[in-house]
Amino acid sequence: MKIVILGTGGRLGAALLREYRDKFEVTGFDRTQLDLSDMNGVREKLQETGFDVLINAAGFTKVDLCETQPDRAFLINAEAPRVLAEICGEMSSRLIHFSTDYVFDGEKREPYTERDEAAPISIYGESKLAGEKNVLAAQDRNLVVRVSWVFGPDRPSFIDAMIKGAQESERVDAIADKFSAPTYTRDIAEMLPQFFERGVDGGILHFSNAGQCSWQEYAQWALDCCNNAGLPLRARTVGAGKLENMTNWIARRPVYSVLSTAKYTKLTGISPRTWREAVSDYITRFYSKK
Ligand SMILES: NC(=O)c1ccc[n+]([C@@H]2O[C@H](COP(=O)([O-])OP(=O)(O)OC[C@H]3O[C@@H](n4cnc5c(N)ncnc54)[C@H](OP(=O)(O)O)[C@@H]3O)[C@@H](O)[C@H]2O)c1
Repeated sequence: MKIVILGTGGRLGAALLREYRDKFEVTGFDRTQLDLSDMNGVREKLQETGFDVLINAAGFTKVDLCETQPDRAFLINAEAPRVLAEICGEMSSRLIHFSTDYVFDGEKREPYTERDEAAPISIYGESKLAGEKNVLAAQDRNLVVRVSWVFGPDRPSFIDAMIKGAQESERVDAIADKFSAPTYTRDIAEMLPQFFERGVDGGILHFSNAGQCSWQEYAQWALDCCNNAGLPLRARTVGAGKLENMTNWIARRPVYSVLSTAKYTKLTGISPRTWREAVSDYITRFYSKK
Protein backbone atom coordinates (compact mmCIF):
# COMPACT_ATOMS: atom_id res chain seq x y z
CA MET A 1 0.00 0.00 0.00
CA LYS A 2 1.65 3.19 -1.16
CA ILE A 3 0.44 6.37 0.53
CA VAL A 4 1.12 10.00 -0.30
CA ILE A 5 0.31 12.67 2.30
CA LEU A 6 -0.05 16.38 1.46
CA GLY A 7 0.26 19.06 4.13
CA THR A 8 3.00 17.38 6.18
CA GLY A 9 4.13 20.75 7.50
CA GLY A 10 0.77 21.06 9.27
CA ARG A 11 -0.66 19.68 12.49
CA LEU A 12 -2.50 16.74 11.01
CA GLY A 13 -0.30 15.98 8.00
CA ALA A 14 2.84 15.83 10.14
CA ALA A 15 1.14 13.48 12.61
CA LEU A 16 -0.04 11.16 9.83
CA LEU A 17 3.43 11.02 8.30
CA ARG A 18 5.02 10.22 11.66
CA GLU A 19 2.47 7.53 12.53
CA TYR A 20 2.54 5.82 9.12
CA ARG A 21 6.26 5.92 8.44
CA ASP A 22 6.91 2.44 9.85
CA LYS A 23 3.60 0.91 8.74
CA PHE A 24 3.25 1.85 5.07
CA GLU A 25 5.31 2.92 2.12
CA VAL A 26 4.66 6.61 2.63
CA THR A 27 5.79 9.86 1.00
CA GLY A 28 4.91 13.24 2.47
CA PHE A 29 4.98 16.69 0.92
CA ASP A 30 4.85 19.98 2.75
CA ARG A 31 4.08 23.31 1.09
CA THR A 32 7.68 23.92 0.05
CA GLN A 33 7.77 20.52 -1.68
CA LEU A 34 4.34 20.67 -3.28
CA ASP A 35 2.39 23.90 -3.60
CA LEU A 36 -1.32 23.37 -4.18
CA SER A 37 -1.58 26.70 -6.00
CA ASP A 38 0.67 25.33 -8.75
CA MET A 39 -1.63 22.76 -10.35
CA ASN A 40 0.80 21.73 -13.08
CA GLY A 41 3.56 21.15 -10.54
CA VAL A 42 1.12 19.14 -8.39
CA ARG A 43 0.11 16.96 -11.32
CA GLU A 44 3.70 16.31 -12.34
CA LYS A 45 4.91 15.46 -8.87
CA LEU A 46 2.01 13.17 -8.03
CA GLN A 47 2.17 11.30 -11.30
CA GLU A 48 5.88 10.62 -10.93
CA THR A 49 5.46 9.55 -7.28
CA GLY A 50 2.58 7.10 -7.76
CA PHE A 51 0.34 5.88 -4.92
CA ASP A 52 -2.71 3.84 -3.96
CA VAL A 53 -4.07 6.42 -1.52
CA LEU A 54 -3.61 10.18 -1.54
CA ILE A 55 -4.35 11.92 1.77
CA ASN A 56 -4.95 15.65 1.55
CA ALA A 57 -4.33 17.27 4.93
CA ALA A 58 -3.22 20.53 3.32
CA GLY A 59 -5.51 23.52 3.28
CA PHE A 60 -5.84 27.24 3.78
CA THR A 61 -6.94 26.89 7.39
CA LYS A 62 -6.66 30.46 8.66
CA VAL A 63 -10.35 31.16 9.10
CA ASP A 64 -10.11 34.95 9.34
CA LEU A 65 -7.60 35.31 6.49
CA CYS A 66 -10.00 33.38 4.23
CA GLU A 67 -12.47 36.28 4.61
CA THR A 68 -9.94 38.78 3.25
CA GLN A 69 -8.38 36.37 0.71
CA PRO A 70 -11.39 34.52 -0.72
CA ASP A 71 -9.72 33.78 -4.06
CA ARG A 72 -6.88 32.03 -2.32
CA ALA A 73 -9.32 30.18 -0.04
CA PHE A 74 -11.25 28.79 -3.00
CA LEU A 75 -8.07 28.03 -4.94
CA ILE A 76 -6.48 25.97 -2.15
CA ASN A 77 -9.59 24.55 -0.45
CA ALA A 78 -11.83 23.90 -3.47
CA GLU A 79 -10.03 24.03 -6.82
CA ALA A 80 -6.90 22.16 -5.70
CA PRO A 81 -8.95 19.25 -4.25
CA ARG A 82 -10.83 19.10 -7.56
CA VAL A 83 -7.52 18.66 -9.39
CA LEU A 84 -6.30 16.13 -6.80
CA ALA A 85 -9.49 14.12 -7.33
CA GLU A 86 -9.01 14.27 -11.08
CA ILE A 87 -5.44 12.98 -10.76
CA CYS A 88 -6.59 10.18 -8.44
CA GLY A 89 -9.24 9.20 -11.00
CA GLU A 90 -6.64 8.99 -13.75
CA MET A 91 -4.37 6.90 -11.52
CA SER A 92 -7.21 4.67 -10.20
CA SER A 93 -6.30 5.74 -6.67
CA ARG A 94 -8.42 6.79 -3.71
CA LEU A 95 -8.42 10.34 -2.38
CA ILE A 96 -8.98 10.91 1.33
CA HIS A 97 -9.65 14.59 1.83
CA PHE A 98 -9.98 16.36 5.18
CA SER A 99 -12.74 18.83 5.85
CA THR A 100 -14.27 20.63 8.77
CA ASP A 101 -17.18 21.09 11.18
CA TYR A 102 -17.22 24.72 9.92
CA VAL A 103 -19.27 23.62 6.89
CA PHE A 104 -22.27 23.80 9.28
CA ASP A 105 -24.04 26.95 10.42
CA GLY A 106 -24.10 25.87 14.06
CA GLU A 107 -27.86 26.32 14.55
CA LYS A 108 -28.48 22.70 15.57
CA ARG A 109 -28.27 21.61 19.21
CA GLU A 110 -27.51 17.94 18.68
CA PRO A 111 -24.59 16.36 16.82
CA TYR A 112 -24.46 16.94 13.07
CA THR A 113 -24.67 13.79 10.98
CA GLU A 114 -23.29 13.25 7.48
CA ARG A 115 -26.85 13.62 6.16
CA ASP A 116 -27.38 17.09 7.65
CA GLU A 117 -27.29 19.86 5.14
CA ALA A 118 -24.12 21.94 5.22
CA ALA A 119 -24.72 25.71 5.32
CA PRO A 120 -21.42 27.50 5.93
CA ILE A 121 -21.35 30.97 7.48
CA SER A 122 -17.75 31.87 6.52
CA ILE A 123 -15.59 31.91 3.41
CA TYR A 124 -13.45 29.19 4.98
CA GLY A 125 -16.54 26.98 5.43
CA GLU A 126 -17.83 27.77 1.94
CA SER A 127 -14.49 26.99 0.31
CA LYS A 128 -14.15 23.74 2.26
CA LEU A 129 -17.68 22.70 1.30
CA ALA A 130 -16.94 23.44 -2.37
CA GLY A 131 -13.81 21.27 -2.02
CA GLU A 132 -15.84 18.41 -0.56
CA LYS A 133 -18.29 18.55 -3.44
CA ASN A 134 -15.49 18.55 -6.00
CA VAL A 135 -13.82 15.55 -4.38
CA LEU A 136 -17.03 13.54 -4.15
CA ALA A 137 -18.18 14.41 -7.68
CA ALA A 138 -14.98 12.97 -9.18
CA GLN A 139 -15.41 9.36 -8.05
CA ASP A 140 -17.50 7.34 -5.60
CA ARG A 141 -14.56 5.84 -3.79
CA ASN A 142 -13.19 9.20 -2.60
CA LEU A 143 -13.63 9.88 1.09
CA VAL A 144 -14.19 13.23 2.81
CA VAL A 145 -13.37 13.12 6.52
CA ARG A 146 -14.75 16.01 8.56
CA VAL A 147 -12.99 16.64 11.85
CA SER A 148 -13.33 19.32 14.56
CA TRP A 149 -11.01 21.20 16.95
CA VAL A 150 -7.89 19.30 15.93
CA PHE A 151 -5.01 19.14 18.42
CA GLY A 152 -1.68 17.36 18.52
CA PRO A 153 2.04 17.81 19.10
CA ASP A 154 3.09 18.85 15.61
CA ARG A 155 1.76 22.40 15.62
CA PRO A 156 0.41 24.35 18.61
CA SER A 157 -3.37 24.79 18.77
CA PHE A 158 -5.89 26.24 21.23
CA ILE A 159 -5.01 23.78 24.01
CA ASP A 160 -1.29 24.60 23.85
CA ALA A 161 -2.04 28.32 23.86
CA MET A 162 -4.17 27.85 27.00
CA ILE A 163 -1.45 25.85 28.77
CA LYS A 164 1.17 28.43 27.83
CA GLY A 165 -1.15 31.20 29.05
CA ALA A 166 -1.65 29.43 32.38
CA GLN A 167 2.09 28.98 32.77
CA GLU A 168 2.78 32.63 32.13
CA SER A 169 -0.07 34.49 33.82
CA GLU A 170 -2.45 34.17 36.73
CA ARG A 171 -5.60 34.53 34.68
CA VAL A 172 -6.78 32.71 31.58
CA ASP A 173 -10.20 32.88 29.94
CA ALA A 174 -11.82 30.83 27.21
CA ILE A 175 -15.14 31.06 25.43
CA ALA A 176 -17.89 29.28 27.33
CA ASP A 177 -20.69 29.57 24.75
CA LYS A 178 -19.25 27.77 21.70
CA PHE A 179 -19.39 23.99 21.52
CA SER A 180 -17.81 21.13 19.61
CA ALA A 181 -15.50 18.19 20.34
CA PRO A 182 -11.70 18.17 20.29
CA THR A 183 -10.03 15.62 18.01
CA TYR A 184 -6.55 14.24 18.66
CA THR A 185 -4.36 13.79 15.56
CA ARG A 186 -3.10 10.51 17.01
CA ASP A 187 -6.67 9.14 17.05
CA ILE A 188 -7.27 10.27 13.46
CA ALA A 189 -4.06 8.51 12.42
CA GLU A 190 -5.17 5.34 14.17
CA MET A 191 -8.64 5.15 12.66
CA LEU A 192 -7.87 6.20 9.08
CA PRO A 193 -6.16 3.05 7.69
CA GLN A 194 -9.49 1.21 7.94
CA PHE A 195 -10.51 3.35 4.97
CA PHE A 196 -7.44 2.76 2.78
CA GLU A 197 -8.71 -0.43 1.15
CA ARG A 198 -10.32 -0.15 -2.27
CA GLY A 199 -13.45 -2.03 -1.26
CA VAL A 200 -14.46 0.46 1.45
CA ASP A 201 -17.22 2.87 0.45
CA GLY A 202 -16.41 6.51 -0.11
CA GLY A 203 -18.58 9.52 0.81
CA ILE A 204 -18.57 11.76 3.85
CA LEU A 205 -17.42 10.57 7.26
CA HIS A 206 -17.45 12.48 10.54
CA PHE A 207 -14.74 11.77 13.08
CA SER A 208 -13.93 13.39 16.44
CA ASN A 209 -13.29 12.28 19.98
CA ALA A 210 -16.48 11.44 21.87
CA GLY A 211 -18.49 13.91 23.91
CA GLN A 212 -18.77 17.65 23.59
CA CYS A 213 -17.56 20.75 25.40
CA SER A 214 -17.10 24.49 25.31
CA TRP A 215 -13.65 25.98 24.86
CA GLN A 216 -13.71 26.85 28.55
CA GLU A 217 -14.38 23.22 29.56
CA TYR A 218 -11.72 22.01 27.13
CA ALA A 219 -9.15 24.42 28.53
CA GLN A 220 -10.12 23.67 32.15
CA TRP A 221 -9.65 19.94 31.58
CA ALA A 222 -6.27 20.59 29.97
CA LEU A 223 -5.15 22.58 33.02
CA ASP A 224 -6.50 19.89 35.37
CA CYS A 225 -4.46 17.28 33.49
CA CYS A 226 -1.34 19.48 33.65
CA ASN A 227 -1.91 19.95 37.35
CA ASN A 228 -2.21 16.19 37.88
CA ALA A 229 0.97 15.70 35.86
CA GLY A 230 2.83 18.08 38.17
CA LEU A 231 3.34 20.80 35.58
CA PRO A 232 3.78 24.15 37.33
CA LEU A 233 0.93 26.54 36.45
CA ARG A 234 0.24 30.08 37.59
CA ALA A 235 -3.46 29.90 36.64
CA ARG A 236 -5.49 26.83 37.58
CA THR A 237 -8.96 27.98 36.71
CA VAL A 238 -10.22 29.06 33.31
CA GLY A 239 -12.57 32.03 33.36
CA ALA A 240 -15.66 32.15 31.14
CA GLY A 241 -15.39 34.28 28.03
CA LYS A 242 -18.22 35.17 25.66
CA LEU A 243 -18.33 34.67 21.93
CA GLU A 244 -19.79 38.13 21.47
CA ASN A 245 -16.62 39.64 22.95
CA MET A 246 -14.38 38.15 20.25
CA THR A 247 -14.43 41.42 18.40
CA ASN A 248 -11.09 40.79 16.68
CA TRP A 249 -12.50 37.84 14.73
CA ILE A 250 -13.36 38.63 11.13
CA ALA A 251 -15.11 35.40 10.18
CA ARG A 252 -18.30 34.13 11.79
CA ARG A 253 -17.91 30.75 13.51
CA PRO A 254 -20.61 28.17 14.22
CA VAL A 255 -21.74 28.25 17.85
CA TYR A 256 -22.42 24.52 17.91
CA SER A 257 -20.58 22.12 15.60
CA VAL A 258 -20.41 18.75 17.32
CA LEU A 259 -20.03 15.98 14.74
CA SER A 260 -21.94 12.74 15.20
CA THR A 261 -19.63 9.73 14.88
CA ALA A 262 -22.51 7.23 14.73
CA LYS A 263 -21.75 6.40 11.09
CA TYR A 264 -18.10 5.75 11.91
CA THR A 265 -19.10 3.42 14.74
CA LYS A 266 -21.65 1.65 12.54
CA LEU A 267 -19.05 1.09 9.82
CA THR A 268 -16.19 -0.02 12.04
CA GLY A 269 -17.78 -1.26 15.28
CA ILE A 270 -15.46 1.12 17.13
CA SER A 271 -16.40 4.09 19.31
CA PRO A 272 -13.83 6.90 19.49
CA ARG A 273 -12.47 7.46 23.00
CA THR A 274 -13.72 10.53 24.85
CA TRP A 275 -12.12 13.92 24.31
CA ARG A 276 -11.15 13.94 28.00
CA GLU A 277 -9.20 10.69 27.62
CA ALA A 278 -7.55 11.98 24.44
CA VAL A 279 -6.50 15.29 26.03
CA SER A 280 -5.22 13.49 29.11
CA ASP A 281 -3.16 11.14 26.91
CA TYR A 282 -1.74 14.09 24.96
CA ILE A 283 -0.70 15.92 28.10
CA THR A 284 0.86 12.84 29.63
CA ARG A 285 2.88 12.21 26.46
CA PHE A 286 3.96 15.71 25.58
CA TYR A 287 3.81 17.86 28.70
CA SER A 288 4.61 15.62 31.67
CA LYS A 289 8.33 15.53 30.98
CA LYS A 290 8.68 19.23 30.19
N1 LIG B 1 -7.20 22.66 13.02
C1 LIG B 1 -8.48 22.41 13.25
O1 LIG B 1 -8.99 22.66 14.34
C2 LIG B 1 -9.33 21.79 12.18
C3 LIG B 1 -10.69 21.65 12.44
C4 LIG B 1 -11.51 21.08 11.47
C5 LIG B 1 -10.95 20.65 10.28
N2 LIG B 1 -9.63 20.82 10.02
C6 LIG B 1 -9.12 20.38 8.73
O2 LIG B 1 -8.09 19.43 8.92
C7 LIG B 1 -7.11 19.55 7.90
C8 LIG B 1 -5.74 19.71 8.52
O3 LIG B 1 -5.71 20.85 9.34
P1 LIG B 1 -4.51 21.20 10.30
O4 LIG B 1 -5.07 21.43 11.64
O5 LIG B 1 -3.41 20.21 10.15
O6 LIG B 1 -4.07 22.61 9.68
P2 LIG B 1 -2.64 23.25 9.50
O7 LIG B 1 -1.76 22.92 10.65
O8 LIG B 1 -2.88 24.68 9.15
O9 LIG B 1 -2.07 22.49 8.22
C9 LIG B 1 -2.45 22.82 6.92
C10 LIG B 1 -1.22 22.72 6.06
O10 LIG B 1 -1.58 23.05 4.71
C11 LIG B 1 -0.50 23.78 4.18
N3 LIG B 1 -0.83 24.61 3.04
C12 LIG B 1 -1.42 25.83 3.01
N4 LIG B 1 -1.45 26.31 1.77
C13 LIG B 1 -0.86 25.36 0.98
C14 LIG B 1 -0.55 25.28 -0.39
N5 LIG B 1 -0.82 26.28 -1.24
N6 LIG B 1 0.08 24.17 -0.85
C15 LIG B 1 0.42 23.17 -0.02
N7 LIG B 1 0.17 23.19 1.30
C16 LIG B 1 -0.46 24.29 1.78
C17 LIG B 1 -0.02 24.65 5.32
O11 LIG B 1 1.29 25.08 5.06
P3 LIG B 1 1.90 26.34 5.83
O12 LIG B 1 1.93 25.97 7.25
O13 LIG B 1 3.25 26.47 5.22
O14 LIG B 1 0.98 27.46 5.54
C18 LIG B 1 -0.10 23.68 6.49
O15 LIG B 1 1.10 22.98 6.67
C19 LIG B 1 -7.56 20.73 7.03
O16 LIG B 1 -8.28 20.22 5.93
C20 LIG B 1 -8.50 21.49 7.91
O17 LIG B 1 -9.46 22.20 7.16
C21 LIG B 1 -8.80 21.37 10.96
